[in-house]
Amino acid sequence: MISQTTIEIVKSTAPILQEHGEVLTQHFYKRMLSRNPEVASFFNTSNQEQGTQQRALAGAVTAFALHIDNLEVLAGAVELIAQKHAALQIKAEHYPIVGENLLASIQEVLGDAATDSIINAWAEAYGFLSSILIERESTIYKEKADQPGGWDGFRDFEVVKKQAESSNITSFYLKPADKGALPQS
Ligand code: HEM
Repeated sequence: MISQTTIEIVKSTAPILQEHGEVLTQHFYKRMLSRNPEVASFFNTSNQEQGTQQRALAGAVTAFALHIDNLEVLAGAVELIAQKHAALQIKAEHYPIVGENLLASIQEVLGDAATDSIINAWAEAYGFLSSILIERESTIYKEKADQPGGWDGFRDFEVVKKQAESSNITSFYLKPADKGALPQS
């Protein structure tokens, strides 16, 4: 659970995020991708160039600040994020990297306005949101691994057929290198 003080402080920062959220998330991405190249390969560079990634994260952070006292409103959004993360193999160990860069970005973008109490409140709130996502994502990984023909993490596949469908479309047919079963759907 998040403390009442944290809820009030995080909620009070929602108007700043509504106004400056994209500046913050742009700064955050630049910071994280230059300092933590180990997570860079997860991110789609064309989404970054178009700004969709920055807008999605700014929107999520602002929505979280606005609804921190009624998180049920965010259930649908949390599920979408968890599914997206699970498709990309985002794991619990990546959350501290994002958290550290997000908190440092709040400090660097807001300057003196980022008081210790704001930083501490956001640290607690980020930890809470992370734990919800990590738990949901680990359930998704387990469900995928436990289904017949399922697996956890990455699995090697071989291209068994390549077929030209038109002048600029080619179909690649893949089979598991271990010749094992695949999920039905
Ligand atoms: C509380 C923490 C986090 C929040 C609120 C969050 C939020 C989001 C949101 C809103 C999206 C867009 C989902 C969509 O496309 O519909 C997203 C996508 C994504 N997130 Fe997270 N995320 C968090 C943590 C992380 C962590 C720890 C990583 C790992 C490095 C990560 C990596 C990604 C990636 C790679 C995408 C896809 C971006 C793209 O290429 O377009 N996120 N996240």
